[in-house]
Parts: sequence; C-alpha cells; structure tokens
Amino acid sequence: MTRIPIVGGNWKKHLDLQGGLGLASGLRNRIGSHRATQVVVYPPYPLLHPVFAKLRDSAIRVGAQDLHPGPEGAYTGAVSAKMLRSVGCTSVLVGHSERRSVFGDSDHLVAEKLSAALDAGLDPVLCVGETLDERQASRTFEVLARQLEVALSGRRAADLGRLVLAYEPVWAIGTGVTATPEQAQEVHAWIRGRIGSLFGPAFAGGLRIQYGGSVKPGNAAGLITQADIDGALVGGASLDAASFVGIVHACSRG
Ligand code: PGA
Repeated sequence: MTRIPIVGGNWKKHLDLQGGLGLASGLRNRIGSHRATQVVVYPPYPLLHPVFAKLRDSAIRVGAQDLHPGPEGAYTGAVSAKMLRSVGCTSVLVGHSERRSVFGDSDHLVAEKLSAALDAGLDPVLCVGETLDERQASRTFEVLARQLEVALSGRRAADLGRLVLAYEPVWAIGTGVTATPEQAQEVHAWIRGRIGSLFGPAFAGGLRIQYGGSVKPGNAAGLITQADIDGALVGGASLDAASFVGIVHACSRG
C-alpha cells in the first residue's frame, strides 16, 4: 500500500511572531508547492493563526503541539480542539514525550486528547516512545504496547482514518543521538504489527508512522528508506528553513 510520507516540524517553545513568520515565509518559498511529501508545521499557540495566514495558499499545513480535551469551559490556560480548528489547524500532536514527562500527561489523558482531536476532525499524531532506562531494561515493546493500547483500545478502525503515529525514542529527542535506521525499523515494524492485531492488516498497512528524534538532513534518507518508516517528526532541525527543507526532500519517495 502506498503511504504518502509526512514530515512535521515541531517548533516547540521557540520563535516569536517575527521569527515564526520569517521561517514560514522561507518554507513557503522553497516547498510551498511541494506535494510529494505532506508537510505540517507545529508553531506555538500564539503563532498558529499568523503562520496559517502566511501559508494559506501553499501545500504546507499547520498543526498544534497539544490541546486540552473536552469542549470550552473554565480551564485557565487551556485550548480546545474547536479553537484550533478555528485558527486554521488541521493537525495536532498528542502525547509528545515532553508533554508526558514535563507536564505529566498520563496515558489516559493522552487518550482523552486523542478523542477530542478525532471528534473535532483534526488529524492527530499520536507520539509514543521509550526512555533510555526502559530501553536498557529491555522494556521498549512493553512500554509501547501500553501507550498504544491505552490510547487506542475501544476505538474502531473506521474512526481512525485521520490517525498518524510517531515513534520517538525519548533518548533520541534533542540529544543528537538518533536511532539507527535498523533500530527504528525494528520498532516501526513491531508497531505496525501491533496495530494490525488491534485493527486488522489493511488498516495497519495504510497507517503512516513517522520517526522522531534528532532527525537531520544527513540522516533522514537512511531512515525513510526503511520499509515501515513513513516520514519524520522534526524538532531542532525544523527551526532552520534550509535543514527542514533538506529533510522534506530526503523524505520524498519516488
Ligand atoms: P528533535 O525533536 O528533532 O529536536 O530531536 C524531535 C521531537 O521532539 O519531535
């Protein structure tokens, strides 16, 4: 099954309005009409609408780094899926490891966020990954199984057509230590198998699984040529237009 590669740029807590608009312009000029790879940028909340306006007539989509589950209400500081839709977002990250470790997002909260995103018609990118301690204790697959099952159990494949997964080993995020293509492929293949046992092989075969963790222009091609790696979720290297564009081109198949 053909899976269109997807590359995300997670700007995290970087860039002010001027910097974000500058980066968006650079991306629009270089890859604004690029369609061989689906490109999504994830600016901080205050930049979502201005960046969306800058990219409106391009092929680059805009997503949010997080959301709060449930509808509007008295939740100071929180942002709903509907608000994200209203400022041009089509996608949202859910369960990024920094949300899990810094902000305490539990597997159950991640599941609620995923529901809110799906209900609102956003394309959720469910991020999963093990820490270094978990990998060294040979618990990688146990951790991933739990993260996937709590987030996805009880759902129907028909409701998950918008879902994208991101495998992001925590030990590779922002460290400069990337998983080798073989290490990443081993896990991606395992995840696809697990998804197949939950939702059937046809669904699993069409599901895109991004790799994230110190992806750079120089290592992206080695990762994307692996059978089960369908793109990249990029942090640090997405803040520079030239490096991000290099990754997007490296991830374009065929
Ligand atoms: P990194 O971040 O590319 O800076 O390692 C990846 C991510 O957190 O998605």
